[in-house]
Amino acid sequence: MSQDRHARLGYNPFRRLADLLAPYPPAAGLEPLRLTAGDPTLGPPAFVPGILARESALWGDYPPTEGTVDFRQACVEWLTRRYNLPAGFIGERQIVPAPGSREGLFMLALAVVPEQKHGARPAILLPNPFYHVYRASSVITGGDPVFLDATRETGFLPDLDAIPEATLQGTALFFLCSPSNPQGAVASREYLERAIALARRYDFVLAIDECYAEIYDQTPPVGGLEVAAATGSIANVVVLHSLSKRSSAPGLRSGFIAGSPEIIKRHLQVVEYGGAGVPGPVQAASAALWREESHVPPTRDFYRGLFDEAERVLGNRFGFYRPPGGFFLWLDVGDGEAAALKLWREAAVRVLPGGYLTAPAPDGTNHGDPYIRVAMIHPRPITAEALRRIAEVL
Ligand SMILES: Cc1ncc(COP(=O)(O)O)c(C=O)c1O
Repeated sequence: MSQDRHARLGYNPFRRLADLLAPYPPAAGLEPLRLTAGDPTLGPPAFVPGILARESALWGDYPPTEGTVDFRQACVEWLTRRYNLPAGFIGERQIVPAPGSREGLFMLALAVVPEQKHGARPAILLPNPFYHVYRASSVITGGDPVFLDATRETGFLPDLDAIPEATLQGTALFFLCSPSNPQGAVASREYLERAIALARRYDFVLAIDECYAEIYDQTPPVGGLEVAAATGSIANVVVLHSLSKRSSAPGLRSGFIAGSPEIIKRHLQVVEYGGAGVPGPVQAASAALWREESHVPPTRDFYRGLFDEAERVLGNRFGFYRPPGGFFLWLDVGDGEAAALKLWREAAVRVLPGGYLTAPAPDGTNHGDPYIRVAMIHPRPITAEALRRIAEVL
């Protein structure tokens, strides 16, 4: 890979934070609290280890790349139930397992971004702030990431009307995230309809990262497949799902991509060459998790409790709002990097500066700079303690 492409991959936000804080010890006498990565701490349901043990003979086989019929069927059943899809709208051949949505997103870009579109380097649209894998996978393909600002003014989602026609013409792939990381915004049915219509009009792939779909406050977020079904077609659309957040199983490495048969076929071709595959025992446990719903509402209640705590401790400070989805706080603290440093040195609390999740504008300003992202993942007493320290120190 060229040096230029390496440089454009970007500074991984977690590495960058580690570099920022490395010279400084955390505040003395306090237990360090890490609210940086979105790693659920609840742990998966208790039945998972039993299935892994029962299916242990499968460790002796290469993972079935295209997925077992049972795994794919479980995903189809879940999608159909969760999004009230018409029977047959999504079939098991329209599912490919992924070790997580991260790997699925990355492989998708490799699969669908051509070398050129209309004779130029293709554009890949991504929200800004963005999950860092969107940018890296765009750059790896040789495409041009185009950052669409998702600010308070735009409802924390990209303004679809603000994308220039010429950019849309040159677009090969659009990564959308709903509920979004870090702001927890949820795309409405109308918004998704419009995004799908653009994908079809300009012939690009719309990839909707729905890995937070089951972590919501009041209303289940509408899904890309659901909106596509209402248009009577699945063309140009894929969605990505994961057990990392829904079932608190990030270590299982299990998710899937689903959608348009043409896109899925191309995706599978790339995975067959370079994918890690999802091991047989993991696929068996995952199928059981997708079929099991009783553990999901208590998971949502857990995060609701953490947002209750945030509401109580932060009130209306730092532009606090209760997001409709996800489990992050996106707080306007004036200078996110200075705040992250101060919180570490004076309160032993680790949070991510918002500017590490955003690309700067051509004039060098960065609308993420004033923010910090706080991952609400720890048990309530720990989260409450962290929030108390944040409120006290900032
Ligand atoms: C927006 C978003 N997409 C994808 C992922 C990847 O999750 P996983 O690969 O565990 O499914 C994450 C993880 O934090 C995320 O925040």
